[in-house]
Amino acid sequence: MKALAILGSPRKNKNTDILLNKAIEGLIENEVQVEKIELRNEKIDHCIGCDACAKTGICFIKDDMSKLYSKFDEADIVIIATPLYFNSVSSITKTMIDRCQAFWASKYVLNKSSIDRNKRRRGLFICTAGSELKRDGFIGAEVVIDLFFRAINTQNSERLLVDQTDKIMVKDRQDILNEAYEIGKKLSD
Ligand SMILES: Cc1cc2nc3c(=O)[nH]c(=O)nc-3n(C[C@H](O)[C@H](O)[C@H](O)COP(=O)(O)O)c2cc1C
Repeated sequence: MKALAILGSPRKNKNTDILLNKAIEGLIENEVQVEKIELRNEKIDHCIGCDACAKTGICFIKDDMSKLYSKFDEADIVIIATPLYFNSVSSITKTMIDRCQAFWASKYVLNKSSIDRNKRRRGLFICTAGSELKRDGFIGAEVVIDLFFRAINTQNSERLLVDQTDKIMVKDRQDILNEAYEIGKKLSD
């Protein structure tokens, strides 16, 4: 099995990255081949809404997103990890997601999907937030991720939503670290 793990935090080795790495450890334990992409290192331009993908099924912008399209197609497991920014996903995460409009257009405009729709991909959404949040505190990010997973034909199987990182960083929360590891393992069971 192949997993694609995407880090949407601009900060390396902080809360979101640490949880993603723990989930990756769980996957590796089950001998999953994991590729990690750190969006802060990728050059991904904004979608400009030109509608070229509605005519061709592919995005006309040639940048680091070009390689990601095929990686989504090949993956059996997709993990997307982002901090909560202004009640939504981080901007580098959203920029990548907007470019998945090419998948959407290939399916719903052209009826000629550029991603294998029959493949059963499993998805994990990891999100960290600084404040203490109510039960629906992550909803702004969750609705974005729901649609993203639909665009890449991935089941929204698991989610790990962690608040209060401003009070206690995840590195000091062994229960959450264990949970991230176990979710990684469960994804590949
Ligand atoms: C631009 C920005 C916006 C943020 N917006 C929120 C927010 O709306 N709600 C919240 O609880 N925390 C918010 N935070 C705090 C982060 O979500 C939190 O610190 C997160 O764990 C950071 O992840 P990282 O350590 O992986 O970078 C924000 C932080 C930044 C920098």
